[in-house]
Amino acid sequence: MISNSCIPLKVGICGLGTVGFGTLQLLKTNAEEISRRTGCEIHVVHVATRTLDQKKVASVPASGTDPFALVNDPDVDVVIETMGGFEPAFSVIKKALEKGKHVITANKALIAEHGNELFATARANNVTLSFESAVAGGIPIIKALREGLAANKISSLAGIINGTGNFILTEMGANKRQFDDVLAEAQALGYAEADPKFDVEGIDAAHKLTIMASIAFGLPLDFNKTYTEGISKITPEDIIYADELGYKIKHLGIAVLNGTQAEVRVHPTLISKSQLLAHVNGVDNAVLVEGNAVGSTMYTGPGAGADATASAVVADIIDLARTKASGADRPPIAMLGYLEPRSDLTVLPIEDIRSEYYLRILVDDKLGVMAKITSCLQDAGISIEAVIQKERVSQTVSIVILTDTALEADLNKALTSIESLDVVSGKINRIRVASLAK
Ligand code: HSE
Repeated sequence: MISNSCIPLKVGICGLGTVGFGTLQLLKTNAEEISRRTGCEIHVVHVATRTLDQKKVASVPASGTDPFALVNDPDVDVVIETMGGFEPAFSVIKKALEKGKHVITANKALIAEHGNELFATARANNVTLSFESAVAGGIPIIKALREGLAANKISSLAGIINGTGNFILTEMGANKRQFDDVLAEAQALGYAEADPKFDVEGIDAAHKLTIMASIAFGLPLDFNKTYTEGISKITPEDIIYADELGYKIKHLGIAVLNGTQAEVRVHPTLISKSQLLAHVNGVDNAVLVEGNAVGSTMYTGPGAGADATASAVVADIIDLARTKASGADRPPIAMLGYLEPRSDLTVLPIEDIRSEYYLRILVDDKLGVMAKITSCLQDAGISIEAVIQKERVSQTVSIVILTDTALEADLNKALTSIESLDVVSGKINRIRVASLAK
């Protein structure tokens, strides 16, 4: 039953950067709509930020630079953590949970790497730790997995889950722009992490995939088992060759559950141009989910940026406001964090996965080169699906090969033999190919 006389939900925001300030603004801009939908007003009563700008916090009764003062403020019911990083964010969240306050965080690194401890603390104190905004920005993928798809056994997820990386690959492909130039633009637009290596080396996507795989499969959170490869070795040449072969290169997070064996991996991936994910461009994210009852569903939208991420933070605040309006002190147990993880699942090492592969090999243009390369692949039991070799423009030439499905360990053996051929220069560029459901 909705109470018309609900006492307002009082929130404190720690960290007033892109996401924190976006949240403050959104709560103000959409206040009327939000309280109409929740039956309860939401008041920001305290803000803690490293550099206090009085203009930004003018409407907030208490403000300062100490997040622990905010946690200790008896007026604050809910702590929003939008500081990012490991410390003091971890201690702030832990303290707030121990004090019996609900916490909402946008911090994917903390959830992926220290979530087990934080969820245990939340459970012990009968409060929630929510993190919708930690994965895929504005896309409500956590709610989709946990609520909308709760009836399904989920067999796979594949997603573009780093806006900066997708923005860079899109621009490199469409406008032949240099990597550094596009990255600088993403930083200026507030998409990139404080350390952009997290975006381009795949760490940010791996944090998000670890969280999604945990919810989808019941896999215990274990970031170290998520295979992580970034986009820094992708060249405009690879994008052009992939296009000729009928593919786009996307930086994907892929999680698959086969019996009790899971694959959890982030890497650049060739996907057919006919697939929906191939058309998700710019800062947009998308996640394709395969459930045994529903089939394939895809969720897409902005994966980064102030307003989009604030939309997800505020959705979590609204859950708590609705709970308050209903007269309960906390949402149902299933929303306290994920439930008991399964203990029978293992994550396959990357050497044990099977995939098709794109290989770009720089060779001297000499008689018999192709035969030597194909013989290395044949020795490893790998057959070839397609080959491209262009006329030479310098001493060396690129040979591009698309293989059939092979075990990664076998491919590694073949690559070692090919790289040791005297006609081959440098490292081979290897990109996995994925066949997705849609
Ligand atoms: N740096 C992240 C991205 C922000 O580009 O997707 C959202 O998590």
